[in-house]
Amino acid sequence: MPKKPPPTDEAGLAEARAEHARLGAEIAEHDRRYHGEDAPVISDADYDSLRRRYTTLEQAFPSLAGADSQNKRVGSAPSEKFAKVRHVVPMLSLGNIFEDEEVAEFCARVRRFLGLAEDAELGVTAEPKIDGLSCALRFERGLLVQAATRGDGFEGEDVTNNVRTIAAIPQKLTGAPDVLEVRGEVYMAHADFAAMNVRQAEAGKPVFANPRNAAAGSLRQLDARITAERPLRFFAYAWGEVSALPADTQLGMIEAFKRFGLPVNPLTRLCVSAQEMIAHYRAIEAQRATLGYDIDGVVYKVNSLALQQRLGFVSRSPRWAVAHKFPAEQATTIVEAIEINVGRTGALTPIARLRPVTVGGVVVSNATLHNEDEIARKDVRVGDCVRVQRAGDVIPQVLGVVDADRPGRGPAYVFPTICPVCGSAALREIDEKTGVADVVTRCTGTLVCSAQAVERLKHFCSRNAMDIEGLGDKQIELFFAEGLIKTAADIFTLEKRDGAKGPRLSERDGFGELSARNLFAAIEARRSVAVNRFIYALGIRHIGETNARRLARHFGDFAALRAAAVSVEGRAEIDAIDGIGPAVAEALVDFFAEPHNEAALDQLLTEVKTIPMEAVAADHPLAGKTIVFTGSLEKMSRDEAKAMAERLGAKVSGSVSAKTDLLVAGPGAGSKLTKARELGIEAIDEEEWFRRAGRA
Ligand code: IVH
Repeated sequence: MPKKPPPTDEAGLAEARAEHARLGAEIAEHDRRYHGEDAPVISDADYDSLRRRYTTLEQAFPSLAGADSQNKRVGSAPSEKFAKVRHVVPMLSLGNIFEDEEVAEFCARVRRFLGLAEDAELGVTAEPKIDGLSCALRFERGLLVQAATRGDGFEGEDVTNNVRTIAAIPQKLTGAPDVLEVRGEVYMAHADFAAMNVRQAEAGKPVFANPRNAAAGSLRQLDARITAERPLRFFAYAWGEVSALPADTQLGMIEAFKRFGLPVNPLTRLCVSAQEMIAHYRAIEAQRATLGYDIDGVVYKVNSLALQQRLGFVSRSPRWAVAHKFPAEQATTIVEAIEINVGRTGALTPIARLRPVTVGGVVVSNATLHNEDEIARKDVRVGDCVRVQRAGDVIPQVLGVVDADRPGRGPAYVFPTICPVCGSAALREIDEKTGVADVVTRCTGTLVCSAQAVERLKHFCSRNAMDIEGLGDKQIELFFAEGLIKTAADIFTLEKRDGAKGPRLSERDGFGELSARNLFAAIEARRSVAVNRFIYALGIRHIGETNARRLARHFGDFAALRAAAVSVEGRAEIDAIDGIGPAVAEALVDFFAEPHNEAALDQLLTEVKTIPMEAVAADHPLAGKTIVFTGSLEKMSRDEAKAMAERLGAKVSGSVSAKTDLLVAGPGAGSKLTKARELGIEAIDEEEWFRRAGRA
């Protein structure tokens, strides 16, 4: 602590006050750039030194540390992050269709699932799919109390203060039910976007690539004052928790939202046939260029909420809705190089490095060439002019070569047979049964290949896995290269080891006190993590988020899953989990059988605790029961029966065994009913099933 000058040192105080004011303004500006623009102009170390000097002045002259001190400002503390919000009703995504024929297929699928006749009337709404970001707004007694982003669908970020600055969103609704969680899209109109980019450029700030990025960047601001300056808008189109539904149809809900004072899209229509749906799709497509905001398709939703309820969800999308996307945008450009990317599972993916080109408003400089067969089929070579396509968020694709017949064209591309990163053999696995080579070429050096190790670590830390903020792809690459992090467990000992070998993190280029502290805090926060996230984070082949959830739900905790994967009976149990196929079961068994993985896991589990998954609807009497359906069901399809059972937390099995708890038998039930009787298993009819499942 610097020596405190005597209070009589008027000159010293005046000088300190001037410096304090100057530093304060500078710090505020850097905070704004760091949080607001995501574009800091000084290194963390320099920022830290500014802050240190500022604090030193306040310590020396306490009268400077008034209410307006940068050290007292709330909302500017750089370590502050968004609080997490759990979505009581998950925010799911939509399945996509692209062709007209798929519209009728969607309707047919819905009718089949509901057990309706092929020509039964089915009301479906059609409305524009807004290209922004979804947001959940919670109103209690009509007042806006919380706003959250979608996040991973189960947990989003609290952006309440930011949403309060959006003029289009009312702070108060009139006539709304006690609890109403409205969902919809935050977006930016074309004109507002263009004007904002002009302002950004004039102020020497970065411009945004498209309105969607601009909307996302503006909503996710730690400083709500910045959001307030951004022209955001909103359309309400869905809902989460509602204390009393104000309508019994989709269209009725939208009309109710409008009455409450929420903005809704005026192009929403009710259709009663696939032809009408397609006609409305065409009408919206024709207006696309003049709407004044970006849309990327049309969303169809079954109008009756009772039917929506029966249809439910499959994996992460509703069965009762689908997005009919507009055709992808295309452009042509030159292939400057073909490079190989080695992924987490060792897959070698060829990437075309392209001369940058704008496709639908976004600059594209890389496109995937998928695999060896695809390059050969399209015969893409370095120097070729190719047509590229970008659809939504997916990686742009190379569609084909435009100038294959030009003179002097280079040689055909030869796909590598060794991994370009670790030199291990790269092979295409041959399917034992069919003798056909897999399309994917894989590096065989699973445990020696640094590319695989780095990609596994990136996956481990990623948003939908362990979600370790501050440990992004770049940092992981850096820490791996320096030997600071080799395995997932190393992440959790990073702080303990900090400075033991080489400089402390806070003294490294591009780091500083602040980012080091934030990173360690983010790591600490993940020492306990939901078991499904943990399973997914391990990056086991075929175990995506959905399968990780299935496993977590079935086994509850991680130890039970691990025990099952290494025993014969356990393996049969995994095999029998609904939705888990043999390939997944095999991948799990293989993973846990590998001694290196076992050791790495043991080490990791000394650092991380998993939080067990609560069983779905554990309070329902059917939860945890194994149910078999047989015979013909009259009021629902087999799929619907299965979905109903699963919603209640029950398991559905195809055959009767000693483990069966209940048989639901329709007319014509045969051997399964006989077997159930032999085993003394309770058998009920469809009527009774509806009663017990709570739907008369
Ligand atoms: S309905 C359960 N309606 O598209 C499904 N979504 O791919 C609820 N979106 O995350 C979504 N416009 O961000 C719905 N009119 C619309 C939409 C829309 C845009 C977005 C939304 C969602 C994504 C799904």
